[in-house]
Amino acid sequence: MELKAEIDLNRLPKHIAIIMDGNGRWAKKKGNHRIFGHRNGVKAVRETIEASAELGVKFLTLYAFSTENWNRPKMEVDALMELLMNSLVNELETLCKNNIQLKTIGDTASLPADARQRLYDVMSQTKDNTGLNLILALSYSGRCEIANAVKDIAAMAKNGQINPDDIDQCFIQQFLDTRDYPDPELLIRTSGELRISNFLLWQIAYAELYFTDTLWPDFRKNDLYKAIIDFQKRERRFGMTSEQLPQINNA
Ligand code: FPP
Repeated sequence: MELKAEIDLNRLPKHIAIIMDGNGRWAKKKGNHRIFGHRNGVKAVRETIEASAELGVKFLTLYAFSTENWNRPKMEVDALMELLMNSLVNELETLCKNNIQLKTIGDTASLPADARQRLYDVMSQTKDNTGLNLILALSYSGRCEIANAVKDIAAMAKNGQINPDDIDQCFIQQFLDTRDYPDPELLIRTSGELRISNFLLWQIAYAELYFTDTLWPDFRKNDLYKAIIDFQKRERRFGMTSEQLPQINNA
């Protein structure tokens, strides 16, 4: 049976987040430069977006560039920014055709002006689309995101706009870059590394984690289907017991 047919479309994760890892190793294995790996990673990005949109996933967050990635050699950073720019130019039509809206999280103000402008243009041109929300994490750091939220909340407390007793989980959530999105239910990391690497630290509290040895440029629709099928086999208890779950689900 085709893998896709094994997916229960009524129990899709609403939000899938992906740490796309392994571009450099993929290129090295082929005797090529790391940038060759990133270029080939774009095909995997395209397939993943297409598969998510076809299935009816509502939110897909891709870790495209971390705050720490700025420390890579300048040539690689420049190549990644150029790749981002070109992809935005080349994919705008496909995004619109597939009713996909582009969003971002992270410190996008730190991106080079041309990439930033292109990003904002594509976001504006796709803002009325109602299908998949494609969220690119760019210059993103989970710890910075939380630190920024704390700073904003502290300023409000200092000005007397809020009382410390007003601060709870829901309140904090409204100060995160992801305030408009539900938490990811499934987090995928490719390339065999078993780390979170500062990605969505707050939001993945109850996400199911899925690790695959596949290097990102080799990731295809079937790899996404496998992750979703694995997700659907798991029992998500949120701290409760198995026996309590039918009651919750039937409530
Ligand atoms: C990690 O592989 C990958 C990245 C830091 C960048 C991801 C970028 C792309 C897939 C290309 C363009 C993206 C978009 C959204 C158009 P790595 O370089 O850390 O690989 P390694 O761990 O094998 O060295």
